[in-house]
Amino acid sequence: MTEPRGQWSGRLGFILAATGSAIGLGNLWKFPYITHENNGGAFVLVYIAMVALVGVPIMMAEILMGRRTQQSPVGAFKAMAAGHTGSRAWPGVGWLGVVSGFTILSYYSVVAGWTIHFTWLALSGKLATMAADPVALGDYFGNQFLANGPQQVFFHLVFMGLTIGSVYFGVKGGIERVAKILMPLLFLILLIMLVYSTRTSGFGEAMTFLFKPDFSTLTKGAVLEALGHAFFTLSLGMGAMLTYGSYIGKEISIPRAALQISLFDTLIALMACVIMFSIINTSGIEVNKSATILFTTIPTVLIGLPGSGLLIGMFYILIGFAALTSTISLLEVVSSFAIDELGWPRHRATLTMGSVIALFGVLNALSLGGNTALTSINLIGRQSTQGVFGTMDYLASNWFLPVGGFLIAMFCGWVLNARTTREELEKGHGPMAGYGLWRFLIRFMAPLAVGAIIVSVILGKEYQ
Ligand code: PHE
Repeated sequence: MTEPRGQWSGRLGFILAATGSAIGLGNLWKFPYITHENNGGAFVLVYIAMVALVGVPIMMAEILMGRRTQQSPVGAFKAMAAGHTGSRAWPGVGWLGVVSGFTILSYYSVVAGWTIHFTWLALSGKLATMAADPVALGDYFGNQFLANGPQQVFFHLVFMGLTIGSVYFGVKGGIERVAKILMPLLFLILLIMLVYSTRTSGFGEAMTFLFKPDFSTLTKGAVLEALGHAFFTLSLGMGAMLTYGSYIGKEISIPRAALQISLFDTLIALMACVIMFSIINTSGIEVNKSATILFTTIPTVLIGLPGSGLLIGMFYILIGFAALTSTISLLEVVSSFAIDELGWPRHRATLTMGSVIALFGVLNALSLGGNTALTSINLIGRQSTQGVFGTMDYLASNWFLPVGGFLIAMFCGWVLNARTTREELEKGHGPMAGYGLWRFLIRFMAPLAVGAIIVSVILGKEYQ
């Protein structure tokens, strides 16, 4: 009972789905937060450079492996290693990707679940009452919401249900369809919020903060953080782009697609920054450097502005949409492994893998209680030792993705020969003027840069 392998309906379907994977909590939550922490301008420029020099080449590498082999990560490494090297260890990179997908999804969907609750709070007017008093809102969030185990589990499971429900219907009928509906809506909501923010008095200050670089404020840690974030935000290093690339046809230009996806992702991250900083500057509220600003500070700030009820509701819907198209890609990596490697039918693969991850995520959901200071919930980033949640995040962001990305770059740059990679990159594209540049970046720039993150993590000096 082998089903035919899924395919996108065309270029647009692929671009929207892949952009949906890339745009997520990383753009709307983590990026504004680390930009604030790293003093804006210069950090933003370094981040853009990292996306261009390391992110785009690795994305091209992942997509080319996917299309070439028409398989998910484990099978793709198996197939490509054969004929290029005698080493049988390479499929391990695919395995690492599956483990990363599993791990990230199990905590990502907990945070994603919060958006459902907050959308409801906003639209029912409850949030407005609470946000009038910042202390009360912080108290609610930390002491009641996070500490309420059953509620945390409930929203996490609802979000996992939505994710499983989307992946269940396949590449075209599920993943692509959801992306085609949610991505335009997401863009529209962001655009409305952007227009709104240009009319606030804090807009000018936000633009200066973001786009007027002051390199004297840039630290070495900031450079590493920019690079680490480039990985997470572009969904690289774990085979998500590889898997999505395995569903594209020969007519698609991989270099152009990778550029477009990265460009969209960066654009959305910058839009999110402009919106949030404008709003925050307008209010004059001193923003704490907590990772939870999205659920505590932002409502407090928004509530003082005209038209705020609807705005806050839209804001959480936006974040929920962005998160869903990302969780879908995380589950797809794990499910496609079961489909391709274990020969399971898609419905069984999604239901089984999705349920196992959901159950595992319950541990994360329950580990939040008591962490009222929230220092441990540093989604996507620094070391936090408290709770299963923090450990999962720390492992995935600081280890799995950089190590996976490093190995993908090494494989495509050093194990595969130039003829193979050139042929695949030029398919659907035509002669590629930038091939030499790509090969240089993937052989030297990417491994060196990513190696620097890994070493700094080993030395415990990351992000200092
Ligand atoms: N790119 C997503 C974000 O920015 C997260 C993600 C990472 C999704 C890895 C898939 C794979 O939120």
